[in-house]
Amino acid sequence: MQPGELSGKVFIVTGGNTGIGAAIVQQLAQRGGHVALVSRNRDKGEAAVQAIRAAAPESAVDLVIGDLSTVAAVSDLAATLLERYPRIDVLINNAGVWPMRRVLNADGLESAFMVNHLVPFLLTTLLLQRIKDGGSGRIVNVNAGLYVNGKLDMARTPYGLDFSRIRTYADSKLCNMLFTLELARRLAGTGVTVNAVHPGVIRTALGTTGGPLGWILRQVKRTWDTPEDGAKAPVWLATAPELAQTSGHYFNLLADTAVTATAGDPELARRLWDLSAALAGLSSDPVPMPSLSVTPPA
Ligand SMILES: NC(=O)c1ccc[n+]([C@@H]2O[C@H](COP(=O)([O-])OP(=O)(O)OC[C@H]3O[C@@H](n4cnc5c(N)ncnc54)[C@H](OP(=O)(O)O)[C@@H]3O)[C@@H](O)[C@H]2O)c1
Repeated sequence: MQPGELSGKVFIVTGGNTGIGAAIVQQLAQRGGHVALVSRNRDKGEAAVQAIRAAAPESAVDLVIGDLSTVAAVSDLAATLLERYPRIDVLINNAGVWPMRRVLNADGLESAFMVNHLVPFLLTTLLLQRIKDGGSGRIVNVNAGLYVNGKLDMARTPYGLDFSRIRTYADSKLCNMLFTLELARRLAGTGVTVNAVHPGVIRTALGTTGGPLGWILRQVKRTWDTPEDGAKAPVWLATAPELAQTSGHYFNLLADTAVTATAGDPELARRLWDLSAALAGLSSDPVPMPSLSVTPPA
């Protein structure tokens, strides 16, 4: 891979101000990509942009302020991105949270369900036509291997009822996996691909907490891989020429990996799709399933 090889391509990276997201932005920018670094916090976002420019002065990195906490805020972010970027090649839904307690947003939705699932659903569908216009767009959803522990209860999961630190995070990532595979079915034949990736076990601020548990976690994290390591698989999915036709797959790091029966259940995915559209306030199906072409009898 050469510097400048991604020249002319526009990438959107959510949660780009820190952790895996910041490393993704840096790796794409160093290879010539034009990257929109989405951050909810201006100071953190500017610091990240400065650090990337210090490492690679020619980088084309824009700071886009965008909160992902509510449906209205995500709609505002999508409008900003559509106004600013006449071309979008790749959307990397990286922002994520691992909450230590049940937190509801202004829409009444639990924060992990919101940020880890409903935000990718809504932001992707709002940007999809622009991504389609390029003819070969890609969507990369940063998931987590823990999705296998998720269970989906349509009446309880969106509201974080029965909150548990591990289960709630896993549930949200299961929803993101179901969304990834359902979107791939709906995008079949459009030239746009969507895949999910587990980035590794990475030393970031994710799931940070105080007290004795926080202290223990900080010691354990010292042995984990770096954000630069965590960026490698998402960047590969976003750019590798050999993956141009690959869609609806889950990669555990770089390994194409079968999903669980629950994550691969198309009926569950369709029901979650409809629920997500309703929770996001969409009045019509944002990406209808393509109808099967039936050859009339002679
Ligand atoms: N670290 C791991 O071992 C690991 C393993 C598997 C999967 N993942 C996934 O990797 C992705 C990146 O995580 P990370 O480890 O890099 O975590 P991180 O360092 O905590 O970064 C998370 C990013 O998401 C942003 N974010 C969270 N809530 C937001 C909101 N409401 N509005 C706007 N931005 C928001 C954060 O912004 P602020 O800085 O403003 O909070 C931050 O930029 C996540 O999807 C995570 O689930 C991580």
